[in-house]
Parts: sequence; C-alpha cells; structure tokens
Amino acid sequence: MKLTIIGSGYVGLVSGACFAQMGNKVTCVDIDIEKIEGLKKGIVPIYEPGLKSMVQKNYKNKSLTFSSNLQQSLQDAEIIFIAVGTPMGADGSADLQYVLSVAKEIGQHLQHYTVIVDKSTVPVGTADKVSAVIQKELDLRGKQIKFDVVSNPEFLKEGAAIDDFMYPDRVVVGADHDKALNIMHELYAPFMKHHDRFIAMDVRSAEMTKYAANAMLATKISFINEISNICELVGADVNKVRNGIGSDDRIGYSFIYPGCGYGGSCFPKDVQALAKTSQDYGYTPQLLNAVESVNKQQKFVISNKVIKHFGEDLSNKTFAIWGLAFKPGTDDMREASAITIINELTQHGAKIQAYDPKARHEAETHYLKDNTNVSYCDDKYTALENADALILVTEWLEFRSPDFNIIKNKLKTNLFFDGRNQFDRFRMQEIGFKYIQIGVNDE
Ligand SMILES: NC(=O)c1ccc[n+]([C@@H]2O[C@H](COP(=O)([O-])OP(=O)(O)OC[C@H]3O[C@@H](n4cnc5c(N)ncnc54)[C@H](O)[C@@H]3O)[C@@H](O)[C@H]2O)c1
Repeated sequence: MKLTIIGSGYVGLVSGACFAQMGNKVTCVDIDIEKIEGLKKGIVPIYEPGLKSMVQKNYKNKSLTFSSNLQQSLQDAEIIFIAVGTPMGADGSADLQYVLSVAKEIGQHLQHYTVIVDKSTVPVGTADKVSAVIQKELDLRGKQIKFDVVSNPEFLKEGAAIDDFMYPDRVVVGADHDKALNIMHELYAPFMKHHDRFIAMDVRSAEMTKYAANAMLATKISFINEISNICELVGADVNKVRNGIGSDDRIGYSFIYPGCGYGGSCFPKDVQALAKTSQDYGYTPQLLNAVESVNKQQKFVISNKVIKHFGEDLSNKTFAIWGLAFKPGTDDMREASAITIINELTQHGAKIQAYDPKARHEAETHYLKDNTNVSYCDDKYTALENADALILVTEWLEFRSPDFNIIKNKLKTNLFFDGRNQFDRFRMQEIGFKYIQIGVNDE
C-alpha cells in the first residue's frame, strides 16, 4: 500500500520504517528540513535499537522515501498517518496545534479518497476536529472528496520500538465506517500472521484506550513508589514487598519497580492531558491527579537522600551520575528524572560528572545545556573519578554488573545511591558499599 506519514520523530520514523520493511511504499514527511535532508543521507536523528539499519535498507531499495513537501507526498497516498507531537499545553491539556495544522494542509491538498489516521496520542474528540478542519478546507476549495479519519493509537515503547511495531501485542483501530476499517485491517494483517490482534472499536473508544493504557501504567509506578516511601518510614524493604505482591497473578511483577519517578514523552503529558479532559467534562480525576503528584515528588527522592547525607551545602561535592535518558535503550530525555536530580544537586552547589551510553548529546545541547556544573564523560568509570558518590538514575544494561572494585577505587567514598534499586542490598553492603536505595531506610 502507499502510505504517507507526517511527522518523522520517534513514532513516525519507526512506523514508516516498519511499514516499508513489510513491503509498503512509504513517504515520511517532516517540516524539519534538516532532519529530512539528514535522513536522505542515512543520518537517523534518534537512537532506537535496529532503526538505523532498517531505515537505510528501505531507503536504498526505495520502499522508504523522505520529503519536506507535504503536498507532493499526498498525491498517491492511500493512507495518511498524522504522527506529529502533541506536547503538554500550559494548562496540562494536549496541545493540538501541530495535528490541526497538518489536518488543514491535508484538506488543502487532498485529491482522492484517503484514510487519514490519527497516530499521535490525542484526546477524545480529536478525530472529529481533524475531520471538521479537513472538510472546511475542502469546502473552501469547492471539492467533494470523501475521506475517513480513524484513530490508531501507537503503543510502541522507546528502546524496543521496532519489536513492538513488528510484533504488536495489539493493534487498536477506531473507525466509524467499514471501508476505512477494512483498509486498516489489510495494512496490519501482515503484522499479525500468528493470530489476529486487531482490535476494532469506535473512534472515541480508541482515542480513550491510549490514555487509559498510559494512565494505568503510570498508576502502577506511582503506586509502588508511594508504597516505597511508606516502607522507608515503617522499616520495611520495598524490594521484598514487590516480590510479595508481584507473585499474585492479579498484580504481576511488571511496572511495580520502585524508582526515582517516570519520565518520557508520554506518561507525564498523557496522565495530565487525561486529567484535563476529565475536568473539562466536569469530573475531578482524583486518582490521576494523585498519580501525577506522587511522580513529581518521587523525582526528588534521590536528591533528598543525597542532601540528607551531605547537608544542604554541596559546594565542595562532586557526584557521578550514571544515566541521563528517561529510560534505557533511548536517547530521549523528555521529562527524564535525571534533569530534576541534576538540577537539584547543582542548585545546592554540587558538581556533576555524567555518563549515559546514548543521551549525552541531548543533555549537552538541550536539556542541561545551561547547567555549567555538569561535565560529561565518555565511559561510566571515568565519571567516578574523585566523585563523592555514585548516583544511578537510568537502569541501562551496562550498569547491571559493573566492576565494583573499580567503582570503589575511583570514588572518594563508598557511597552508592541507587535510584533504580538494581542490586541486592546485603551483597552491596558485604562488598563494602554504603548502598542507599529507594524504599529502604539505610541511613
Ligand atoms: N515517543 C513515544 O514513545 C510515543 C509512543 C506512543 C505514542 N506517542 C505519541 O506519538 C506522537 C508523536 O510522538 P514522537 O515522540 O514521535 O514526537 P517527536 O517530537 O519525536 O516527533 C514529532 C515530529 O513531528 C514533526 N512535525 C511537527 N509539525 C509538523 C508538520 N506540520 N508537518 C510535518 N512534520 C511535523 C516534528 O518536526 C517532529 O519531527 C505524540 O502524540 C506522542 O504522544 C509517542
């Protein structure tokens, strides 16, 4: 099938590459001309395992092309995906300006029946808005062209996006007409050869499904983080509690890891956008509000532990930070806990020596670019040199079994603050660390 994907970021580029890999003819469009020109030269602007080679291979065999000319890219498209950003607006709502401006352009240039897919995460009712904007432009042009707007929220996880897309555990499509639904089913059929995981529903339910999924996952994280804070106060060990409750099938082990809060481009903004939607409809979402506020507070748990240990004045202290990305497997630092932790410590005068396998460039050029107390290291052990403590923020695989002797030799102290509870506390104490983690009171 011939597809045009508008917005070539984490979702658009991965979707485009995977659809092309499956034999479709895909054009990825972006307004960022530099990004598009780079992609044509094989420069993939984000880190996502497996993405670069898939993009290069499909570009070479012409299944995947790149363009900054939307009008041209719409000519032959059977399906147009809108995959632009929906960042958080000032009032917590999803900012739809990019989605609606794309809708306007589609309406200005549409020539024949096309399925238009909202792949961006958008609040309930957005498909209606997109339809109305397109229809208005068609009316202005005096054209009678049929189109359908469907909702196809994306559930890929950064760091495992290619696998998630190629082998989805479900494909949710909200469509109000059979014609569009059948086209979408045909598009996704090759991704579900093993068994059908296509879940069809009405548009509004599909839009809501994405928010409900992210809100549920964020709730699990904030729940265990709240339990971890209570554990510390009452003298319990959250790691044991996690094991104790995860063994119950109804609860399960996933997404109940205690830590220094969730970040990323999705959970923080989606929980708040859903809360805002609820409020707009006159309902106060008490649970969603609590999930968000627990998470905000959780991002300070590690810096508070450091301040509790060293005191408010950290001006003579240097800390090694392992991990900047909001989670392992990506260079994405949107809403990353590392930003809060590092800014908090440096505001108290600390110097930071940071290492991340992929996100250094993002930190240096964007998220921490104005923070002059941060320096960056090329490997995890260099970051430890003469540091007063190690703080682990992102659970990259390469931090899972480090050489503890090197850590002890390079650090000035034996202090290890673990924001992701990666190690067994007794073993760490046995080998000589003062090991401070989340949800256990060891001070
Ligand atoms: N990142 C994820 O893991 C993830 C997962 C599921 C859903 N989503 C949702 O998918 C959407 C996209 O997220 P993302 O992380 O890919 O965003 P992103 O910021 O990485 O990419 C968005 C891209 O859209 C481009 N763009 C903006 N306006 C445009 C226009 N008018 N024409 C063409 N291109 C335009 C931007 O230049 C950018 O390259 C969001 O709604 C997000 O919530 C993201």
